[in-house]
Amino acid sequence: MTIIKFQHIMSNDVAKRAFLSRPPEPPAGVLLNDPFQSIYIGITKIFKIPFSWSFLNLTNPHICVVGITGAGKSYFVKTLLIRASYIWNSNAIIIDWAGEYKAWVKQSGGIVVSLGKGDYLNIMDLSGMKPLDRVKQIMNSLDILTDISMYAEQRRLTDEALEQCYLNAGFALAEIPPPDKDAPTIKDAISLLEEKLQEGTYTYPAELENTIYRLRQFAREGEDYFARKSTLDLAKLASSGLVSIDLSTLPDEKFRALAGLFILQTLKEKMRTEGWSGSKGLKAIVVLDEAWKIASDEKSDAIMIVREGRKYQFGLIVASQNPTDIHEAIFSNVGTNFILRIKFEKFLDYIQGSLNFSNFIRSEISKFGVGQAAVEMAFQTSLRFPETFVLQQIHGEEPLYAYTVDITDILTQPELQANIMPRSYEFEKEELRNKFIEYNIGSNEIDSIFKTLDENQRSIKMLDLIRIFKQNNITVQNIMAFLKSLSIEDVIITRILSKT
Ligand SMILES: Nc1ncnc2c1ncn2[C@@H]1O[C@H](COP(=O)(O)OP(=O)(O)O)[C@@H](O)[C@H]1O
Ligand SMILES: [Mg+2]
Repeated sequence: MTIIKFQHIMSNDVAKRAFLSRPPEPPAGVLLNDPFQSIYIGITKIFKIPFSWSFLNLTNPHICVVGITGAGKSYFVKTLLIRASYIWNSNAIIIDWAGEYKAWVKQSGGIVVSLGKGDYLNIMDLSGMKPLDRVKQIMNSLDILTDISMYAEQRRLTDEALEQCYLNAGFALAEIPPPDKDAPTIKDAISLLEEKLQEGTYTYPAELENTIYRLRQFAREGEDYFARKSTLDLAKLASSGLVSIDLSTLPDEKFRALAGLFILQTLKEKMRTEGWSGSKGLKAIVVLDEAWKIASDEKSDAIMIVREGRKYQFGLIVASQNPTDIHEAIFSNVGTNFILRIKFEKFLDYIQGSLNFSNFIRSEISKFGVGQAAVEMAFQTSLRFPETFVLQQIHGEEPLYAYTVDITDILTQPELQANIMPRSYEFEKEELRNKFIEYNIGSNEIDSIFKTLDENQRSIKMLDLIRIFKQNNITVQNIMAFLKSLSIEDVIITRILSKT
């Protein structure tokens, strides 16, 4: 009986077989790119190779970033945007869900627009699109954000009313509109439906009433952010350097998601007409941070954009603390995934299931400290090395005039050694001042806190800060809310409160 059988095989094929182990990192030739055509990110863990990111040999320039709060997602995104503007002259539009980029953008000389605070977007604006296509997009957004898809009659009525508005305003439904013609608004659609109701000839008045009710949510006095003539020119903003569109001032998630979807749709349309050209670099980078509704729904434009790869002149960055908020299609279609620290098994299962990395990488991810990441890249040509590797540290851009709140004296020795939590929190001055105001700290106290900070190299220990809060009779609820807003974990918050 033969146990071993000999086989003829070419040495080329032998080389492809990984007999013992696979090299744990891609070769230096892949990690090191032309410094004038790539962005330096950090050092790899095993061979200590400086990794610079370029989308040129990847399937597309889109990026997904996940990791628990405090893992370093926003820090990484800011670094990437700043360096992309040096290298490729890229513009950036941040769809800023929680208003967390505002202070940084201002400090970096960028533009901040706050929807809900005097700025409006008319979701019926065409920006060069045919009215029929825009109506489809609006209906798509309503499908994602409301349950209208379950009510066929209401859906049809809405669709027809929107089309009729364009016709009444003198547009042809299937033609590219003239550039200077004003689009109708949702309010016009509501008026049409109301007229129809008053005529009293429609067979299902209840359906008509419900349709009107649905649309009114977006057109109420004081909440008509999307139902008035636009004050913002998105196409222009997409070529204005660093821009943050602050959505935190909108009343709820539904409005934020509607704004996010509309902005994505409009930018996509603009970039479609410009077309892809690798040599031109990245005209713009669009950031969606913590925008779960938009990243998770199959019908969302975020998913379409990453699926369509290199069709547009821009890169999309989707970031979230909760991987299950990100549709699997995003993980598997973006050119690059950055996975920062993740600790819940079910989240690790979900990502590993989508990306197929090894158990070795999985266990690394669960042990990461702040600023460490696993990187997974999808190359245009097939490769013989693993596509996922570990970065020792993301080397980012430090904020200019950062104020630091130091928490090292609150962490335990093992926590310090493991380096799994931030040791300090950094803020731009305005950002910190706004936080103080938000949590009811009086202006005299704020001035004296900043005085103390400025006398100590703009740094303060967390316990000292909380003591100042307490001396100024700030309530425990407000202190807790303040700490939570820094994304500090609950165990640490309890520790801080018990020590003060
Ligand atoms: N790569 C890094 N190097 C040094 N400090 C970092 C790094 N990443 C994050 N930090 C610090 O950790 C804190 C939390 O980072 P942040 O990006 O806000 O986390 P996330 O967006 O994931 O919640 C910040 O104050 C930041 O200064
Ligand atoms: Mg963040």
